[in-house]
Amino acid sequence: MTEQALGVCYYPEHWPEEMWDEDAQRMASAGLTWVRIGEFAWSRLEPAPGGLEFDWLDRAIDVLGRAGLRVVLGTPTATPPRWMLDRHPDMLAHDAEGRPRRFGARRHYCFSHEGYRAECRRIVTLLGDRYGRHPHIHAWQIDNEYGCHDTTLSYSPAARAAFRDWCARRYQSPEALNRAWGNVFWSMEYDEFDQIDLPNLTVTEPNPAHVMAFRRFSSDQVVAFNRAQVDVLRVRTDAPLIHNYMGRELAFDHFTVGADLDVASWDSYPIGFLSDRIAATTAHKRRYLRQGDPDMQALHHDLYRAVGRGRWWVMEQQPGPVNWAPHNPAPLPGMARLWAWEAFAHGAEAVLYFRWRQAPFAQEQHHAGLLRPDSADAPGLAEAAQVARELAEGLAGATAPGQAALIWDYAAAWAWETQPQGADFDYFRLLHAAYRALRRLGLNVDIVPPDTADLSPWPLVVAPGLATLSGPFLTALSRHDGVALLGPRTGAKTEEMAIPVPLPPALPGLDATVALVESLPPGVTVPLEGGGALAHWVERLEGTAEAVRRTEDGAPALVRAGGLHYLAGWPDDDTFRDILRDLAGAAGIETAEMPEGVRRRDTATHRFWFNYGPEPVDCDGRTLPPAGVAWEAL
Ligand code: GAL
Repeated sequence: MTEQALGVCYYPEHWPEEMWDEDAQRMASAGLTWVRIGEFAWSRLEPAPGGLEFDWLDRAIDVLGRAGLRVVLGTPTATPPRWMLDRHPDMLAHDAEGRPRRFGARRHYCFSHEGYRAECRRIVTLLGDRYGRHPHIHAWQIDNEYGCHDTTLSYSPAARAAFRDWCARRYQSPEALNRAWGNVFWSMEYDEFDQIDLPNLTVTEPNPAHVMAFRRFSSDQVVAFNRAQVDVLRVRTDAPLIHNYMGRELAFDHFTVGADLDVASWDSYPIGFLSDRIAATTAHKRRYLRQGDPDMQALHHDLYRAVGRGRWWVMEQQPGPVNWAPHNPAPLPGMARLWAWEAFAHGAEAVLYFRWRQAPFAQEQHHAGLLRPDSADAPGLAEAAQVARELAEGLAGATAPGQAALIWDYAAAWAWETQPQGADFDYFRLLHAAYRALRRLGLNVDIVPPDTADLSPWPLVVAPGLATLSGPFLTALSRHDGVALLGPRTGAKTEEMAIPVPLPPALPGLDATVALVESLPPGVTVPLEGGGALAHWVERLEGTAEAVRRTEDGAPALVRAGGLHYLAGWPDDDTFRDILRDLAGAAGIETAEMPEGVRRRDTATHRFWFNYGPEPVDCDGRTLPPAGVAWEAL
């Protein structure tokens, strides 16, 4: 059985050394066993170029380790110190307006800057040499939240030079690039790779193929930046290498970054996300104000379990109000416990609260910790301690395999951001809607990358908005003998952002062709025969495939051939659930009707229930209080 444990993020450099010992003792007595440190400490580790001061870190690690805590050591590369800019004045990321981003916060580096990458290799080598085999260091975190603060895309001179090289490698000749991008349109043809700029500051929209190439390149740069640190650490430590990804961050391919690491982790801020990262009605945002969206966390748990190939953590868990959303309410009592249990039920190996003590200075002074700035207990601490006691009962363990697979493709997100053809066509929102529909049916979901060669573990496969169909996916689909739902917009673009001919979706065995697409403004829907509606996006289909659902004016909305289904639009929430209930039934999967705001998840041994609603709810023969968690042996 996987070991599951709690922890906390701690910044010894923020506090007088006299406080460390008591802090460590209090962490241990609350039942915390992991502590993450170091990820922003470069200015204290190397106050001047080459002037290393690691002694304080040695002492901090010893104090924490002696209290029985296992340390996750962060590499400090998300916060290069001020002197770094004097050494590398051109290392800054540039925004889309072409302006260098400034020193004075964090993540101010460009992923393409070779000089900065070498500095990262240097500091990580020093850290790896000193702590790689340290008995108290049990894991490493590389950098912090790639992509945070919109930093994946950089329009700097370093990025431009690297992009030209990338294009030369991918296309081999300017003629081939011109052909692939369709540069004959508007006389955009190039004679040399060195004429190619980044796709910003153009008079009107740049060629979508150019933008898509830049998106692929930018993702590759994150992968290469991360790999540089992995290569340094691999030979210096046997401890697992981890990165902490974010909620709703799709600007780089996490599956590719994750393939170089041992564990995926993510930073879960449910109330902040509800406020600023989710498209939802005002009523929904009011109802879940102090709990977060009922599906947002689990969606990422399932995603990062896939990114980590089974091994994943929550590296930062919201314990109280955050500081960064437009509005920052406090969690309902019980939510700091519920969120942790929901993660464990999805198979998390560890959940670390962010942060130990609230910092009374600098940017995050209104961000709650487990302690207040005066070191008194904040409300999250008792809930963390409760989870630690409950974990000791040995409840958790491996999560159950999903009944449904939801295909998740970062390149599809880039494609639809590049050419949305309708302001509300958002890939994340579409996937969130499909996931919500599956969870309202009480299903366990696995998120699956788009190049998965074998879909046979899942009787139901759901793949909305998959812009480009890869060969491996088509092969896996043709061998899958369960039920699959594709569409809308599946197979609608080539890798180079052109409309393929034969027209999409071009699914073997399914005679259906998308003849026309429409995007719809908010509030406009296309009603379906028998109830329900499509919104945001509608496709008109030609062909002889059997229509399972039609619009009120008789056009096919859902067609099929055997188990293979194509959805010609974006269904509203209830319609999505109804369609998936029928498909699950056809796949032989038993579904449930979860009461509003209640979700469940199975592990190998238990069924868990979570009440995100603000009132008590009866479900499966039990009453769940607000923020309630319940479990029962299967
Ligand atoms: C995360 C970040 C932390 C902290 C936290 C505040 O994005 O990794 O360093 O800023 O948010 O909620």
